[in-house]
Amino acid sequence: MNNIVTHLEWNDFFLQLKDYGIQFINQNRAQTLAEKTGDGHSIIYRQIDNFPDWMINGLKMKPLVFQIFAITPESTGMVHRDGIDRKCALNIPLLNCDQGYMDWFDDIFEEFKIVTDYTNVRLTTIEKNHESFRVTSDPMHRCLIEVPSIVNTDVWHRVDNQLNKNYRYVMSIRFVGNPNFEIVHKLYTA
Ligand SMILES: [Fe+2]
Repeated sequence: MNNIVTHLEWNDFFLQLKDYGIQFINQNRAQTLAEKTGDGHSIIYRQIDNFPDWMINGLKMKPLVFQIFAITPESTGMVHRDGIDRKCALNIPLLNCDQGYMDWFDDIFEEFKIVTDYTNVRLTTIEKNHESFRVTSDPMHRCLIEVPSIVNTDVWHRVDNQLNKNYRYVMSIRFVGNPNFEIVHKLYTA
């Protein structure tokens, strides 16, 4: 195992998650948010309660939130770490994930911390201060998310959809207690 990403096999439960997530796909919302924020990568839907019973029963840990991420065609999201509150995620590809990479970096970036009511996220100061600038160094790891995957969100990462002509959508589930990558990896591969 690396400590960045673990790919899992599709099963009935993951397919049910995918079917559930697909209903929230919304290209207009993805486009509007991207224009508003200057970041092609956005959260178009977030659910923090009323999780269906089958979802709670099927996940190996209690869900805290699930979100739908969208990224516009031919764009690159900002490098960030969700780490403080969100060390790890279970990501389910929803649409157009045959292109568009998830990148991780081992660069040491100067961080720009954003605190909201909901969460804390760290951006890089350079991308925060220069709206269209994107980090150009080679990622230490990159992969497609074409199957359910446990991803380490406590390491600098981004989505690079530069070569994708389509909007790409991924569902991302975070767990109560903020378990790190190793814990979630063990749960799902035991
Ligand atoms: Fe992230």
